[in-house]
Amino acid sequence: MSLQGKRILLVIGGGIAAYKCLDLIRRLRERGARVRVVMTRAAQEFVTPLSVSALAGERAHNDLFDPASEFDVGHIRLARETDLVVVAPATADLMAKMAQGVANDLATTVLLATDKKILLAPAMNPQMWAHPATRRNHARLISDGCLFVGPNAGEMAEAGEAGLGRMAEPLEIAAAIEDALSAEPERTALQGRRLLVTSGPTLEPIDPVRFLSNRSSGRQGHAVAYAAARAGADVILVSGPVAISDPIGVRTTHVETAREMLTAAEAALPVDAAVCVAAVADWRADHQASEKLKKQKGKPPALALVENPDVLARIAHHARRPKLVVGFAAETENLIENAREKLARKGCDWIVANDVSAETGVLGGLANQIHLVTRKGVEAWPLQSKEVVAGVLVKRIADALKAGVNA
Ligand SMILES: Cc1cc2nc3c(=O)[nH]c(=O)nc-3n(C[C@H](O)[C@H](O)[C@H](O)COP(=O)(O)O)c2cc1C
Repeated sequence: MSLQGKRILLVIGGGIAAYKCLDLIRRLRERGARVRVVMTRAAQEFVTPLSVSALAGERAHNDLFDPASEFDVGHIRLARETDLVVVAPATADLMAKMAQGVANDLATTVLLATDKKILLAPAMNPQMWAHPATRRNHARLISDGCLFVGPNAGEMAEAGEAGLGRMAEPLEIAAAIEDALSAEPERTALQGRRLLVTSGPTLEPIDPVRFLSNRSSGRQGHAVAYAAARAGADVILVSGPVAISDPIGVRTTHVETAREMLTAAEAALPVDAAVCVAAVADWRADHQASEKLKKQKGKPPALALVENPDVLARIAHHARRPKLVVGFAAETENLIENAREKLARKGCDWIVANDVSAETGVLGGLANQIHLVTRKGVEAWPLQSKEVVAGVLVKRIADALKAGVNA
């Protein structure tokens, strides 16, 4: 992954997650980016301008009315001499000010004066994120064209608090920055097309508290849905349980089991293309106990499994089959042979094969190494962020639909 020669303006807001920005700056510089930093007054309560400046390799900018700073760079140059503006952590307060167009300090003035894309990585208490005021500001910023990464679900810094509001990890933010700066499919490449995307794992209950599932994070499927929406498609995403936000501009249906996923996917037909990224559990418990199974004197209960419906094969053989059916194949051995065999057996047009052996870190991770298997042959793609993989795949889908081919 490279951000060689890219200029990033990082605006650090006043939240606990500001400490993660130190790592973010390091990650961005490792990738070859130049990082200029603006810190709000509150941000300086959480990390020092000295640490930030040391990691950025240039001094952090903090004050709108600092004559030296204004003479040296100036707020308008800060706002314009960059390729992307990143706000991390984007606090509830900063989001509110941006949504209102407030410009009463250096950070907010720069954010209002910039003509570049702005990517926000929100971080706040789940109650603050869920508050109607923050919901309004979020929607406003999306319609103003801002991009978002996260927030994710998980433990908060405050003891005992959990939910949606955790800032995305530095590597996720770096991947989103790369995505925002990478060549995207044209905004109109999928205009007038309808796409179905499945994503995440499925969760198959054993009893009221236990289930069978897998490590899929939904990152790849959600990235495909988002990229397709950005290319102008009407996208229906059917997602299993994941800890990441619904992609913006996409209609998302949440399901738990493979059978629910199949019903929701079939209900979305007809579509022009279906991209089945979800890691659908192959099996479910034959019998779902209505009460929690109890330990029985050293004798574990026998768990009988039955096969789940195959969502990809069912879509590929459906009476209203999409023109293009793309499946993802997660394999731990014989990647290409298994993918070729799957292409034929499932009746789909392309298989996107990825090696998910534990040592690759693909499942649940941020990057993906793809082999695209079509009826014509196999293409090896370089290791790229899941967002970049999604952009490239969506472009291929747009080209294939335009040409009317599925080979
Ligand atoms: C210990 C502490 C942690 C905080 N963490 C957050 C946070 O994670 N997200 C947030 O939106 N506000 C948080 N706040 C509140 C903000 O610091 C406050 O709203 C501030 O005005 C935000 O300033 P900014 O606009 O410069 O980001 C926190 C406050 C304190 C005292």
